[in-house]
Amino acid sequence: MSVRTAAVAGDPVPIDLNGFRRRHRTRPLSAVRPKSLPRAGLDDKERGTAMLDEPGSPSVPGASAAAAIRIRGLEKVYRAQSGQPPMRALRGVSLEIPRGSIFGLLGPNGAGKSTLINILAGLVVKSGGEVEINGHDLDSAWRQARLSIGVMPQELVLDPFFTPRQTLELQAGLYGVPPRRRQTEALLEMVGLADKADVYSRTLSGGMRRRLMMAKALVHRPPIVILDEPTAGVDIELRELLWNEVRYINEAGATILLTTHHFEEVEAICDRIAIINRGSVTLNGPMDEMLARLDRKELVVQLAEPCSKVPAALAGLDARLEGDRTVVIGYQPTRTRTVDLLGQIRDSELQIADLSTREPNLEDLFRTLTREPVLDAAHP
Ligand SMILES: Nc1ncnc2c1ncn2[C@@H]1O[C@H](COP(=O)(O)OP(=O)(O)OP(=O)(O)O)[C@@H](O)[C@H]1O
Ligand SMILES: [Mg+2]
Repeated sequence: MSVRTAAVAGDPVPIDLNGFRRRHRTRPLSAVRPKSLPRAGLDDKERGTAMLDEPGSPSVPGASAAAAIRIRGLEKVYRAQSGQPPMRALRGVSLEIPRGSIFGLLGPNGAGKSTLINILAGLVVKSGGEVEINGHDLDSAWRQARLSIGVMPQELVLDPFFTPRQTLELQAGLYGVPPRRRQTEALLEMVGLADKADVYSRTLSGGMRRRLMMAKALVHRPPIVILDEPTAGVDIELRELLWNEVRYINEAGATILLTTHHFEEVEAICDRIAIINRGSVTLNGPMDEMLARLDRKELVVQLAEPCSKVPAALAGLDARLEGDRTVVIGYQPTRTRTVDLLGQIRDSELQIADLSTREPNLEDLFRTLTREPVLDAAHP
């Protein structure tokens, strides 16, 4: 439990397509300034459709569905292997990811997050259920569905003997982006790799490879961008850069689905979350509503004088000592009025130096849900 704080630097500002670096990079990672800027998300004309609309490119009819991604009853059973029984990684997962949202998919290791994302990416074949991406059914319109998303997988898959520039050019070619619509240089700028554009990818550091993977996901300007642990193992500065890029492409119109284990960052950047545990979604909805469900707050009383035990007058409360100068009283806001609590504190005759409250954060919610699956969204 801790006071909620925004962890990502840089206040959101109105989108300025000519000022990506100026807005987001207080400490530029690369000395090279961008000449042109990537159209990483969508412009109004393209919103809701995939971006490859040039002659000779695969064309994707516009989709009108309100949800960017709609998943119903998704199942995945991995086949038995080397003496292990079959693994049911997804158990009837249903989710809707609204257009324009930044959606955080959270869960402990092995929960099924990457399995779900890899099914969307076409890297894993589902065992059951339905998936619609940008209004296109993954089974009957897989090509359109695939063109609508850019995926940065958890695994770093790069050809070590290709340079970042060649990697992006090849990816653009695979997606049928004609040379004049490619944005290789701008993407290299955006992810801070312009000065490494022509070195073998095998010589890039882990964080640089991740940046290149992100640029790769954006070459065809997809309206939906999926990032599986984009900040795993990267330093604070790069995390900040990546989150700023995520905000930027979202402001430009793209829907974002991401996974990460950094809760403070999820709280700061995501407007909706789902928590997945052992293959099932245990909670799904707007961030604020989710946190309110915990129905727990703490009143923190700083004492003017040291105290060796919780005063008898507070015995009926969920009160504990933190050190010898802080009494912490837990309560349920829906059941206990703060004014009643304050009355009891006054009666205890404690010498109060200061008072504050603590609200639960996403990490508390996550711990509660992954420890006690009873808070299932379908059965609150
Ligand atoms: N190719 C595979 N074959 C068999 N089992 C697999 C395969 N891929 C994943 N699994 C299993 O499926 C379950 C879900 O794995 P998944 O990678 O989806 O988890 P995750 O939520 O992404 O975890 P993490 O946070 O560690 O990335 C795990 O038990 C994992 O061992
Ligand atoms: Mg994973």
